[in-house]
Formats: sequence, structure tokens, C-alpha cells
Amino acid sequence: MKKLSSNELRERYLEFFEAHGHRRIPSAPLIPENDPSVLFTTAGMHPLVPYLKGQPHPAGRRLTSVQKCLRTTDIEAVGDATHATVFEMLGNWSLGDYFKREAIMMSWEFLTSSAWLEIDPNLLAVSVFAGDADAPGDTEAATIWEKCGVSPQRIAHLDKKDNWWPAGGKALGPQGPDTEMFFWTGNEAAPVHFDPQDKRWVEIWNDVFMQYTRTANDRYETLPQPNVDTGMGLERVVMILQGLTSIYEIDTYQELVAAIAAAVSKPNERHQRIVADHLKAATFILADEHPVLPSKTGQGYVARRLIRRAVRSARVLGITNMTEVMDEGIHITTQQYGSTYPSLVRHETLAREKMKAEITQFEAVITTGLRHFDRLRQRNTRTISGTEAFHLYETYGFPIELTQELAREHQLTVDLPSFTQALAQHQTDSRQASRGKFSGGLADHSQESVHYHTATHLLHQALRVILGNHVTQRGSNITQERLRFDFSHPEKLSAEQLQRVEHMVNEKITADLPVIKEEMTVAEATAAGALGLFAHKYGERVSVYMIGDFSREICGGPHVTRTGELGRFRITREESAGGGIRRIKAVLE
Ligand code: SER
Repeated sequence: MKKLSSNELRERYLEFFEAHGHRRIPSAPLIPENDPSVLFTTAGMHPLVPYLKGQPHPAGRRLTSVQKCLRTTDIEAVGDATHATVFEMLGNWSLGDYFKREAIMMSWEFLTSSAWLEIDPNLLAVSVFAGDADAPGDTEAATIWEKCGVSPQRIAHLDKKDNWWPAGGKALGPQGPDTEMFFWTGNEAAPVHFDPQDKRWVEIWNDVFMQYTRTANDRYETLPQPNVDTGMGLERVVMILQGLTSIYEIDTYQELVAAIAAAVSKPNERHQRIVADHLKAATFILADEHPVLPSKTGQGYVARRLIRRAVRSARVLGITNMTEVMDEGIHITTQQYGSTYPSLVRHETLAREKMKAEITQFEAVITTGLRHFDRLRQRNTRTISGTEAFHLYETYGFPIELTQELAREHQLTVDLPSFTQALAQHQTDSRQASRGKFSGGLADHSQESVHYHTATHLLHQALRVILGNHVTQRGSNITQERLRFDFSHPEKLSAEQLQRVEHMVNEKITADLPVIKEEMTVAEATAAGALGLFAHKYGERVSVYMIGDFSREICGGPHVTRTGELGRFRITREESAGGGIRRIKAVLE
């Protein structure tokens, strides 16, 4: 076996296929161009889909590449020996040129020939498609493998779940059976019989024979142009060639993994690997040809989720200087991969700035968020409600998947449908807010309205104290005669609750609390636990109104200077204002 480094393997692979008439094409960006159907490039074939469908490729009918890829489908498996969200895929393609025989023979030659990887054939096994009602078994592929010298006992015949691409065969369009190659990583001698369930057989390469197209009426038709699409996982093959037991030990990871290990005070292999993978993956997204910044949607959300997941793991590890570790990690990644993927160099500064901002923002709230989560999990219920999950998302920046993972770690479940509903409602509210409907300030500055405005803040906080922190403002309407306040709460308030709310507001009025305005950044406001954060951008300066130490809320004002001016507060009505939203009307007398 040749002990190749990552750089050497990339080069040898491309050279081999060039020697077999292929043209080298560059890696496409991670963010797909002109393809809204997927968030990221997940395989080398992905940028080639138009050509696999029949459009002529300018470089010809035989192509080869090394492609940067990102998959989040296995994100929770990251931390074991072989999974990563960002990885490199080596591939070769035939666009209506060669088919099964040549593809398999080239794969075998590259793996086993003494001029190339020189892997002992006894350490290899393969799987082929077994056949079902839609398409016959791939006996042709099996026969070709046997001709190469693979024993029939080392050829597994599996169904669509394993041996079809796109995986599972549910997608429309070009597809077909595949044949996969496995390497024996066990300490014992490789078993004579290949058992695909045995995890010591690690998949390293996949040759897809795109000979069908699945039509909208669920028929598999034979393609006029059969193609070959192959994908070899670079990290796994280097791991095998170097005789290592995890991809995190290979050359491209060594420096990164060491930098993380140096910052850790409570070592944990899984979390260290998560930090390494997520940091690297986020760097690739932030410094792609089309850089994507952390945000609430789409690819930006994936970047955010990766970074926040890394921050959480860093806390488990006792890393205290996360921004520095990240900064070093970006630098290492850029050095390591810059010559293969030049956009990393071009956007290094941007990646550093944005990563730092994202970490700082999340670190400001994660401690309180985790404490809040601990309180939730210590109750007698096994479910985190949608409202609670939304609160973690909105106030503490917990991606829903993070809440779900934390929940699973404590054998709890999250009410996802009601979270989704709360999120959708919130998005509608924010859109209205950004159109200026609730600008956070008061339109009418009459003395009466100003009184009601301050009373609204007192009411908001009293509701949270008495009903719980899931209460957030959903709407507010103030006239000179009354206030009307909508808020999230799942059920009608009891007479007793209403009385307690009313009493608490009056108590704060009688206490004649000072009302003080302070300017601060959103991060500071978040850290101070101020309400009303939803429509603001990180970095923006906001004014926060503090009523004694009872209430803190981002607001445009104006307000009274002391609560004593307000008079007596009386709730006149409590009613529903739509699903999960209650409405209170109140007067000052
Ligand atoms: N498309 C196949 C895969 O991703 C082969 O390249 O495994």
C-alpha cells in the first residue's frame, strides 16, 4: 500500500484518470451556482448534473476532479472516526462514453496496481445492486468484479437503500445502480465472506451507473446516454493508506486538531472532533467563492448552526479562548487548503471577522441559555414545548437542532410542530415590525399615551413574572383612553392570575420607580436580558428603558420619568387574539 499524503492522493488520482483520457476540471464552489434545489454541493457529480442529462461539456466526455463537499445529513455522527460535514471527493465521469466494464476496471486498477495505490486485493470487498421490481439486478457489474479477481463471497448484493444513486432511488431524473468498494480496517485477518453490516468494512469509493431516469409517473426509463459518476472519499482513503484509525488523524487535520487539543482543559475526543470539523466547515462556507455569512436562513443558517454547535462543544471542553482558537483554526485551514481551494485565501479576512462576530454574539447569551435549559429539564415534564424552544432560539440564539440535541441528551423531546408555528408567527410579526407597524416608539406623545406606554412595559414584565418567560409581546396598541397588549400564552388567564398581574403593576406604580433610558449595543442589551430584541440587527445601538430593576425593554420611547405618575391600573378585558395569543385591555384611573 502506498502511504500517500492528501496532496499526493489528489494528484495521483487526477493523474491516473488523465492517463485514461480524462480532462481535469476545477472544484466547483460549495454554494451551488444556478441551482436552488440544494443548499450545498454534496458530491462531485452535483455541478455536472446538466451534463449528465445530456448537455455537452466543454471539456469533453471524460472528466475528473477533486470537489469540496458539504453534507449535514450525518452531522450528529460527526465525532466518530469517519464522519465529517466538510470533505473532499475525488471523482471521474463518463458522459455517455465508457460504462460499467471500463469504470470498474479503472477503479480496480487504481486501487490495486503497484503503479498506483497498491492496496492488497484481499482487503477489499464490493457491493452491487440486487434488483427489485423497478430494475433488474446488476449481474453485469458482479461478473466484471469477478473477472478482476474479486471472490463471489466478497460481493454483496444489496437493495436500493444501499446500492442506488441518488441514495434510495426516490429522486426524479437520471439515476441508477451503483457498486461500492469497501476496505477492511479490522485488526484480525479480513473475513473470507463480506458482511456489509460489519462496520470494520469502510466504504471508500462508489461507481454509479446512471442508466435510468425516473419520470414523474414513477417509471424508470432507460437513458439515451448512460453515464458513469464516481466518488471517492479523500479523507477516508488517506486514513487507510496511512494505517490510521480515524480521519481526524490524517495530515490535513493534524495541525487543527493539535491547536484545539492545546486549548482544552476537559478533554473529550468526540467534542474535539466536532470543534475541528465545524470550524473547518464554517471556514469553507464563509470563504467560498460565493461567501455566505451566518444568518437565520438557508446556507447562512447552516453556517450559524455549525459555529454555535462548535461553541457549545468548546464549552464542554472547557475552552475559554474560543475566538482565538477559531482564529487560529481559520488560519491553519487556509494554509492547509489554500492552494487547492483558492477562495479560502481570498476571503480569509472576511471569514475571520464574521466568525468572530458570530462567536461573540453567541457567547454573550449561551451561559444564560444553558442555565435556562437546565431549569426546563429539571421540571417534571419530558417535553420542551414549542414556546420554550422558541424562547431558547429567539432570546439565547439556540438553533432548534441544538435544543433538540440537548433534549435528547436528557431523554426529553421537543414539540417541533409548535416550535415551527411559533417561528412562523414571529416571522410575520417581524415583517410587520420592519414595515414600521410596531416601530417600538409611540406615535402620539400626549401625556395620556405616554402613561399608557410605560404601563405597557410594566404589564409585559408582570405577565412574564406571573405566567412565565414564554410571554413575549405580539402587538401593542395605545390610545389616550386605554392600552391594548397582545402576548404569547397558550390559555385563558384565570381571574386569580389577572388579579395578581393587576396587583403587581399597581405595586410598581406605588413604589414610584425611576424610569431610565440607556443606549447600548444589541449584544449588551441581550446580556442585560432586555426584552424586545426581535427586529434588531447585531451591532446596532439601541435604547433600553429600565424601570427600577423590574423591567428592561428595548424601546424608542417616550416614557414617564417615575412610575408614581401613572395612577391606578385596572384590567378591563382579557380575550384570545388568535392561536396561542392572548389580549389584555387596561385603563389607568
Ligand atoms: N454521486 C455518488 C456519491 O456521492 C458518486 O459520486 O457517492
